[in-house]
Amino acid sequence: MNGTTGETSPTPSADVVDAGHLAPAGGVPSVEGAADTTVAGPGSVAQWTERYTHAVMDTFGPPQKVLVRGEGAYVWDADGTRYLDLLAGIAVNALGHAHPTLTAAVSAQLGTLGHVSNFFGTPTQIALAERLLNLAQAPEGSRVFFTNSGTEANEAAFKMARRNRDGVAGPGTRTRVLALEGGFHGRTMGALALTSKAAYREPFEPLPGGVEFVPFGDLTALEEAFSADAVAARGEVAALVVEPVQGEAGVRPLPPGYLVAARELTAASGALLVLDEVQTGVGRTGTWFAFQQQEIGGGITPDVVTLAKGLGGGFPVGAVVAFGERAATLLGRGQHGTTFGGNPVAAAAALATLGVIERDGLLANVRAVGEQLREGIATCGSPVVAGARGRGLLIAVQLAAPVAADVARLALDQGFIVNAVQPDAVRLAPPLILTRDQASDVVAFFAGLPADLVGSPTAPHGSADPAPTVPATRPKG
Ligand SMILES: Cc1ncc(COP(=O)(O)O)c(C=O)c1O
Repeated sequence: MNGTTGETSPTPSADVVDAGHLAPAGGVPSVEGAADTTVAGPGSVAQWTERYTHAVMDTFGPPQKVLVRGEGAYVWDADGTRYLDLLAGIAVNALGHAHPTLTAAVSAQLGTLGHVSNFFGTPTQIALAERLLNLAQAPEGSRVFFTNSGTEANEAAFKMARRNRDGVAGPGTRTRVLALEGGFHGRTMGALALTSKAAYREPFEPLPGGVEFVPFGDLTALEEAFSADAVAARGEVAALVVEPVQGEAGVRPLPPGYLVAARELTAASGALLVLDEVQTGVGRTGTWFAFQQQEIGGGITPDVVTLAKGLGGGFPVGAVVAFGERAATLLGRGQHGTTFGGNPVAAAAALATLGVIERDGLLANVRAVGEQLREGIATCGSPVVAGARGRGLLIAVQLAAPVAADVARLALDQGFIVNAVQPDAVRLAPPLILTRDQASDVVAFFAGLPADLVGSPTAPHGSADPAPTVPATRPKG
């Protein structure tokens, strides 16, 4: 496949589009000529967007493009324009698009047994639970609960926290759940209660109570939250919920040592340590789970890890991994449930995704290509770029001014999908199969950003960010 981006294939004909079979016949489209995004015929991006605005609830705003097919790290829109997908459906498409192994596994399972209720088990569901426990190096007595999404996994974890209710001072004395400022855990009511951003929370208050936010990465504040004074005044702590690397806050890794200290504080007080690895799990940071990296987790064993996003390689599936007998038995029979969670097709998708990551050595690829991207972007010489940070293939490009939306628009025009995660930061979360050549194209894009994007050199920065960022430097020579 041609390694350049922003190229076109012939626009699918109207009858192909109307039939709902949007992939141009004959596999990979040809890539001659420049993109013509002004085409407005039947089935064009413009026409689909118009239909979208009348049919789909306006919670996301209009779509940036209407996409019709994908292959590997590329997707094509309804006008036939190709994009290098550096967002992967927000850290989801671990194997890229239309991966043959994933496609075959899902098709085979659907053609064999597509759904059963949780009155029944299936071999795929059971095998996936065992596989996750094995990859997480979970101790004897550990168990998995399956969901369909990240927010549902966090809802289950929240309910587990509520069940961890009996404290040192007696039954029902653990009333507090701690979460971090800047954290994002989902949009359903429990997960939203754990999410700190006021704009997400306030329209839906009152939310489930008892949640307290502690400043990101501040160990003194965390110690205070567990102190005897805090317990006497506000009650014991049932759980601490954290992302090892905050994704939506702009790819902010927790400072080294934080999780080790958090583990000590939670263990000493009987609180659960819940790691939200919905975004960081399943290889995204270069290990199966981010907490397994020494510099992030320091060798700790958490009580609960929540997963989703990359787990199904694009098929909706989430999971709660409960470490050890105590965490695994907090939710008893009838205390939680789901119709679709543990569905065998979703489980087959997850097993295939995990299998390909292992078979193709993708964890090593994530580490190598991630480093290439971070170093390359940080040293690309553009005055628009102030640095790059992150782990593996979860990366934020720090900009020298709050121009992330402009950068994302320019990227799209040039055939790259990126995400303006903060006013002054662009997030990259590409498929784990991204190649070195594709990474070079990405570096070239950032190097070529027009200097006038940042205007005067004193343009204001966005939010202060304590995360370690590889500082931008000019190329030598
Ligand atoms: C860390 C984290 N937790 C939870 C969620 C919510 O997941 P979902 O959108 O699948 O409900 C997200 C989504 O971005 C996330 O990044």
